[in-house]
Amino acid sequence: MCGIVGCITNGTEAPEILLKGLKRLEYRGYDSAGIAVLNGADIRTIREVGKLCQLETALADLDLPSAVGLGHTRWATHGRPTEVNAHPHRDASGKIVVVHNGIIENFRQLRDELEKEGVTFTSETDSEIIAHLIARFYEGDLAEAVRLATRRLRGAWAIGAMHADHPEILVGARKDCPLVVGLGDDEMLLASDVTAVLDRTQKVVFLDDGQTAKLTRTSLEIVDEEGHPVDWTATVIGWSLSQAERGGFPHFMLKEIFEQPTVVSDTLLGRLEDDGEHGVLADLGMSADELTTVGRVHIIACGTSWHAGHVAKFLVERIARIPVDVDYASEFRYREPVLGEHDLVVAVSQSGETADTIAALRMAKAAGCRTLGICNVIGSTIHREADGSLMTHAGPEIGVASTKAFTGQLTALVLLALELGRMNGRLSQEEDARWSDRLRALPGQIELCLKRADDVHEVALKYVSAQDFLFIGRGINYPIALEGALKLKEISYIHAEGYPAGEMKHGPIALVDSRMPIVALCTHSNVREKVITNVEEARVRDARVIVVANDGDDEVQPIADDILWVPRVDDLLSPIINVVPLQLLSYFIARERGADVDQPRNLAKSVTVE
Ligand code: F6R
Repeated sequence: MCGIVGCITNGTEAPEILLKGLKRLEYRGYDSAGIAVLNGADIRTIREVGKLCQLETALADLDLPSAVGLGHTRWATHGRPTEVNAHPHRDASGKIVVVHNGIIENFRQLRDELEKEGVTFTSETDSEIIAHLIARFYEGDLAEAVRLATRRLRGAWAIGAMHADHPEILVGARKDCPLVVGLGDDEMLLASDVTAVLDRTQKVVFLDDGQTAKLTRTSLEIVDEEGHPVDWTATVIGWSLSQAERGGFPHFMLKEIFEQPTVVSDTLLGRLEDDGEHGVLADLGMSADELTTVGRVHIIACGTSWHAGHVAKFLVERIARIPVDVDYASEFRYREPVLGEHDLVVAVSQSGETADTIAALRMAKAAGCRTLGICNVIGSTIHREADGSLMTHAGPEIGVASTKAFTGQLTALVLLALELGRMNGRLSQEEDARWSDRLRALPGQIELCLKRADDVHEVALKYVSAQDFLFIGRGINYPIALEGALKLKEISYIHAEGYPAGEMKHGPIALVDSRMPIVALCTHSNVREKVITNVEEARVRDARVIVVANDGDDEVQPIADDILWVPRVDDLLSPIINVVPLQLLSYFIARERGADVDQPRNLAKSVTVE
């Protein structure tokens, strides 16, 4: 959601470094932005409502040579998106400046307390209290004051702090919100996301909950909640800067859709049973015995990741014959689920930082379940806190609407289903080998779908002005209908619903007329003919129908106004193929409508608050 960048350098370009870093965080979603830089003996703060170009324009009129600074993009939670509510915030003396991501749950109580002590607040935010609290504890050591201040906070935070009297240091602290330190060449950086520092360094240190970090240009000291020094190790990030840039595509989303063949092959790399490497067992954090005794799987996730989890229900139940429950993490955490010691709880999350998914994971751990994270971001909270992990290798996903991370998740979930089937003896060696062949063929089959992007574009042009859409599918493609509808609504702002096709007669068919296009997933499976019947029922009520069908399937011609052709694959793998034309359809419709495809309104890439 919000983004933090900080730098301490040996030059005078802090404003430029901060602005560049903030631009790399734009994808997270924000409604105001600001920077604070040390300028002479003072700290200058510049804040603007709206996009970063406004901040850039404001900075262009100023001459602010500086070596040290903090920057922030804010996505409003407490207080409207105004200039006074934008970060950085200051204490009363104006010497201490902070930026904050997260939510301080006890801020009202702390604000009352500070007001009684005579502090005057200038904003409506929960974040401003942090600056005043640090001031209260400050006795010459900023890092210690930050540590003591955080001990009074309840909630979630990533904090960057600086002091006008200490131009040589920056301080960072975190709990339940990501924060990394970038170890640069004669400089240090602080950021909420590695993407923000990648053009300056690939060497980073992920801070853990409760830690406070003191950065100078050449040193890093980390202490825990009690102030005890903590040893740290740097991680070298394998993502190149160009991976995080658009690479010639008009939008990150389109680039990411086109990266899916690579994502699938990277996620499979070294993990198929017959390629002689370690398979997935080594990553899972569970012994073969533990895997053998898994009696139930619970999948917890949000949004698109929840759709991947729903597909996994079909995969695990069909391949390993283990019952699977799929929950929205936000529901799971409050519904008092029945959990047992032989249950495996799988948290699926691209970012690994989604607040509800983290809370649900912690609940499952506390209940004594084995936990597994399927994440895309190394070092993320879910990656670190789950007992084991199966990383997707999708690289940074910048477009707010998830595409390549989804296909990466589906691929990882197939691998998980196979491993469970292998362990409990439900998967024969012959069948296992067939799965390897089918999975290896997938990247080429996705390529084929992408080669047809122009055809999808042509279809999209016919539906640009629709107001409502229905997406229908059955079985393992029902979650893909949900995902198709979610993609369309979030980036084009067209109202869209996903339904299991068999449910049409129980209500939604009342909506059907010539103004309601229907997208139907009719690829080969045991329920294909049933979906065709459901489509016919809609057509006789004047619906315009776009069908996703397998190459050469003549039977769908009569029921379709338009057809999105895809290669035929095993039914259980069809979601990975079928979602591709739906992603493209949403993308082209949104683009034609002039929508901000990569940063849809009201959405944030990483939902780090409940
Ligand atoms: C939709 C989308 C969201 C995310 C959801 C969970 O395109 O991106 O629905 O899937 O916010 O995010 P992660 O996977 O990071 O936990």
